[in-house]
Amino acid sequence: MKNKPLIILITGASSGIGLDTALSFLNRGAVVYGAARRVELLKPLEDKGGYGIFCDVTDAASILNCVNKIIKREGRIDILINNAGFGLGGSVEEVPLEEAKKQFDVNVFGLTEMTKAVLPYMRKQKSGRIINISSIGGKFSSPFLGWYHASKYCVEALSDSLRMELHQFGIKVSIIEPGLTRTDWGKITAKNIRKNSLIEDYSYNADKVAEYYEKYYVSTNTKISKPSVITKIIQKAAFSKHPKPRYKAGTFSSFYIYGSKFAPTWLYDFAMRILMKIK
Ligand SMILES: NC(=O)c1ccc[n+]([C@@H]2O[C@H](COP(=O)([O-])OP(=O)(O)OC[C@H]3O[C@@H](n4cnc5c(N)ncnc54)[C@H](OP(=O)(O)O)[C@@H]3O)[C@@H](O)[C@H]2O)c1
Repeated sequence: MKNKPLIILITGASSGIGLDTALSFLNRGAVVYGAARRVELLKPLEDKGGYGIFCDVTDAASILNCVNKIIKREGRIDILINNAGFGLGGSVEEVPLEEAKKQFDVNVFGLTEMTKAVLPYMRKQKSGRIINISSIGGKFSSPFLGWYHASKYCVEALSDSLRMELHQFGIKVSIIEPGLTRTDWGKITAKNIRKNSLIEDYSYNADKVAEYYEKYYVSTNTKISKPSVITKIIQKAAFSKHPKPRYKAGTFSSFYIYGSKFAPTWLYDFAMRILMKIK
């Protein structure tokens, strides 16, 4: 293994945190496979010497095809970064079940199916790292984002189980908990909140919450972390001799995580209403 370049597979590499991370690993001499559905957006990665692969993480055949291609070519995968994900917005009452299932298909089952496809090779190697991109939203809930939080809570729970199950094989599992990070995530989430807000009773609050995300992610007047902040933390999880089980990073990560952990629930709820300007 010594002197051999690391073989890295990262999902959701077509934009945001995934693309930035993929490019950063190339700069460190790794062999990088970036997976996504919009393969045309993988061109910047290919131009720098990486490999783009089509993969829809909700499709079992697509996952297997992606992993098999890498194994056939490289014989191993050293690091899997499960990054593909999106934010499903809307009140719990309004989000249709089909959409809620889609949220879990991508953020939870996509992540576990990809992991299951890679694990037989990592177990055989007796080494490997799995880095799961969760969110600060895997530690607390906020209004109009219930299904997203539920999916990221699942990522946290499953990653903790995996870490203990895989210890005996020398495979390390880390969770990354990004705070607000300037990518398409916020724009997509705000759009989802508006799209799913159909009941008049919810519309005032839904608008306010969508505006909150637009304020941070769409407007350039507010400052939130660049994807490179999260990339640096992912690199720590990839290269540390003893990677931590979880890393938080980026705008508001400490504020939200410690706030929700230590503040009484009534205070946390009150703060959330003030922050999001909702009733
Ligand atoms: N930005 C933030 O503030 C923030 C905060 C906390 C956590 N996160 C998490 O960070 C991760 C990356 O998000 P981002 O912020 O970089 O947003 P982004 O720019 O929207 O990137 C999301 C990526 O996920 C991929 N994806 C979505 N559905 C997919 C599917 N069915 N199959 C395969 N790939 C799929 C997209 O690729 P294709 O559409 O091309 O397939 C895209 O590359 C997500 O898990 C997100 O929940 C983000």
